Amino acid sequence: MSNLKSIILAGGKGTRMKSELPKVLHKVYDRCIIDYVCDACNNANINDLYVIVGHKAEMVKEHLASRKNVTCVLQKEQLGTGHAVMQAKDYINDDDLVLVVNGDTPLISPYTIKSFVSFLEMGNYDAALVSAVFDKTPAYGRIIRDCAGNLSKIVEQKDCNEEELKIEEVNIGLYCFKGKLLKESFSKLDNNNAQKEYYITDIPYHIIHDGGKVGVYMIQDPDETQGINSRSDLSIVTKTLLEQTRKLHMDNGVTLIDPSNTYISLDAKIGKDTIIYPGTNIQGKTIIGQNCVIGPNSNIISSTIGDNTIVELSKIDSSTIASNVKIGPFANIRPNSNISSNTKVGSFAETKNVNVGENTKIPHLIYVGDADIGNNVEIACGVITANMNINWQKNRTVIKDNAFIGCNSSLLAPVTIEENAIVAAGSTITDDVPQNSLAIARQKQIIKEDYNK
Ligand code: UD1
Ligand code: CA
Repeated sequence: MSNLKSIILAGGKGTRMKSELPKVLHKVYDRCIIDYVCDACNNANINDLYVIVGHKAEMVKEHLASRKNVTCVLQKEQLGTGHAVMQAKDYINDDDLVLVVNGDTPLISPYTIKSFVSFLEMGNYDAALVSAVFDKTPAYGRIIRDCAGNLSKIVEQKDCNEEELKIEEVNIGLYCFKGKLLKESFSKLDNNNAQKEYYITDIPYHIIHDGGKVGVYMIQDPDETQGINSRSDLSIVTKTLLEQTRKLHMDNGVTLIDPSNTYISLDAKIGKDTIIYPGTNIQGKTIIGQNCVIGPNSNIISSTIGDNTIVELSKIDSSTIASNVKIGPFANIRPNSNISSNTKVGSFAETKNVNVGENTKIPHLIYVGDADIGNNVEIACGVITANMNINWQKNRTVIKDNAFIGCNSSLLAPVTIEENAIVAAGSTITDDVPQNSLAIARQKQIIKEDYNK
């Protein structure tokens, strides 16, 4: 088999989006359009990706920087999709098989990519492209076939005559070419068309004209081939994606009380018998265990949650919550919070960059940030860890096992509350509190008798 690589076209202006953001960086639910396309290629075992960047190239490059198998190739001027693919010429070897995909088609599946490549190989084609028929024909390039049913050319909607406009089969922007023929076709492209652009869609015509064999792989389900050119397209694709993921989770044994009001990332994993109430967003690579109750109205972003945990009306971001935990209502679990099992983080409690031990209670109106809290700790209402000093440096608070922190106390970090110690209500703790001791750090109460007589 030849070496398979992929060129992803992502340099266009995306004018129809009417946005300052490059089109491929718009999000379909929780991830950028370009990420879906790169992942689809990777999941189809293509690990050599060339992304053509142009409009706001730096932003797109920066977004893709963490992807190891992506090379960004600059298209200085946006002269069309044919011109875009030409920019990767130096990376194409004669015996390569080159998959070219529009960077604005995020739902294309790895399965389709794989089947399409084997279609080309099994049919011994020199090139191939994917076509679809939609309920309502979009403004896409039309597939023109000869009387034997073979492809003769693609005509862009703007270049179509009346007869061609009636054709329902369209080009969806996924192509595969033998490297040598692809390179040879570049010199034959021109921009004599309605948009004065160099079209990739003219390449199949040139290959056929030179005696090559070009196959058309017609896809049954057009939903995954929907391109994004406008905000309406973005909403259509987002709806399709969310419907697919909801079904996937329900098929796996998750109850969604109101599916259309539940938003789940393609990357999330949820255990069976978990119930999700409406208004809940589960984003990123979130993992939720079995028998949990999540929502209503909760936001969970790139976090891990164990089994039997309840999350009500709360936000959890980039954190780990163990099993049998109760979060909320109205808790804000900020990044890097590690909450152990059998704990409670209750109403209007905020955590950040903390480790919380087992059986510990953080029930209400509390801020704990940059802290290590042991097992069986009780933190009463209104406690805060004052983690920042006057030089804007963050310091840690350590609260060891079985300690009790009375209400409305401030713990001025760096400070350690040793095992089994008690902090009296209303204390401002600046010094370490030894094991088994009681610290009272507040003014003594004064009584002025008959003061208000
Ligand atoms: C393209 C196809 C059309 C097809 C449709 C499917 C062409 C000429 N037409 O039209 O036949 O039916 O996709 O969705 O290819 N791009 C660049 N550089 C450029 C221009 C575009 O990198 O100079 C990129 C865009 O960022 C985009 C992709 O190429 O990701 C497709 O470009 P777009 O302008 O959206 O093409 P369509 O008009 O949708
Ligand atoms: Ca497009």
